[in-house]
Amino acid sequence: MIQRARASLRHVLHKSSPLHSSISKVRARHLSSVNVAASLKADDPSTLTCSELDNFDWDNLGFNLMPAEFMYTMKCSKGENFTQGELCRYGNIELSPSACVLNYGQGLLEGAKAFRGENGRLRLFRPEQNAIRMQIGAERMCMPSPSTHQFVEAVKEIALANHRWIPPTGKGSLYIRPLLMGSGAILGVAPSPEYTFLIYASPVGNYFKEGTAALNMYVEEEFHRASRGGAGGIKAITNYSPVLKAQANAKNRGFSDVLYLDSNSKTNIEEASSSNVFIVKGNVISTPALSGTILEGITRKSIIEIAKDLGYKVEERCVKVEELNDADEVFCTGTAAGVAPIGSVTYQDKRVNYSMEGQLISQKLYSTLVGIQRGLIEDKWGWIVEID
Ligand code: COI
Repeated sequence: MIQRARASLRHVLHKSSPLHSSISKVRARHLSSVNVAASLKADDPSTLTCSELDNFDWDNLGFNLMPAEFMYTMKCSKGENFTQGELCRYGNIELSPSACVLNYGQGLLEGAKAFRGENGRLRLFRPEQNAIRMQIGAERMCMPSPSTHQFVEAVKEIALANHRWIPPTGKGSLYIRPLLMGSGAILGVAPSPEYTFLIYASPVGNYFKEGTAALNMYVEEEFHRASRGGAGGIKAITNYSPVLKAQANAKNRGFSDVLYLDSNSKTNIEEASSSNVFIVKGNVISTPALSGTILEGITRKSIIEIAKDLGYKVEERCVKVEELNDADEVFCTGTAAGVAPIGSVTYQDKRVNYSMEGQLISQKLYSTLVGIQRGLIEDKWGWIVEID
């Protein structure tokens, strides 16, 4: 695999002549090293230099963009399939002002993570699930999508090419962001004539500014994240900016994030701005059922399987907002968010606090997930893809 990534990088370098000349002197010296990605660092100001990376303080990663050196792009025309993509240096892309994604939001995003395992090996967590989810979303948005094989191979290439940006074990992960967009020019509302699949990556730590501390959530009644028949169940890029207003209102009032209600009855909880939600009562863990308005989170799915395996009863059903009043625990899950405990929920100006004392079920579930991701716990489901 490393050989394949190196071969692609050689291909990139041969094709881009200014870059090629600026690094040609170091290339011969370094191409034989597995550190090829970092060795080829030229003078791109948007990513860290090798020595900056060597001295980087991995202890304070948050969820801020720190672009890794290489991105991946693959294009195809409407009515065709994706065929061959390539690695190139991270940087701005060129789009027509009338690109469909800019004008009509024809786009999907994904989020995956690469980890450095306890044994030093590089690991991806369920990347084929991201591929499948992108295919389902693409069908809904009238876009062609990469095959599962193409998607997973591209994610592997990105992780390997950027391996120096994967934090030391236990200090975070390389967040991998695949995008699929209608990049062709168009004026009327119609599918784009051209599509771009792009992946970039950034090392990350905790998603929330609270770190691993409990979150304080606000139940939003005015704004909704999704409605029936809409695109709430897929990872459309258009699902995220409509939450900004509610999120800003909540943050201005000191809350961590927002819990959204269903737009129909306004009585069921759906999800948070960028994560799924679970409640715990006794031995039963419940989460809103997938009804088209809730994203089928890969962490959600994994936590359900882990919880059942640990002996909990898991229910996917309508979760009434009133159930928050007497839940033992509430937590949210996501690739970016991990498993984040919720310490309080405020609904109609009434705040309910949850005890953070003792061994929390959310903590037990998260330790198991992280243990699998880092190679401390046996991966009996075959979720991990080792890539080096
Ligand atoms: C993820 O959890 O990977 C997401 O896509 C959430 C993101 C919008 C921050």
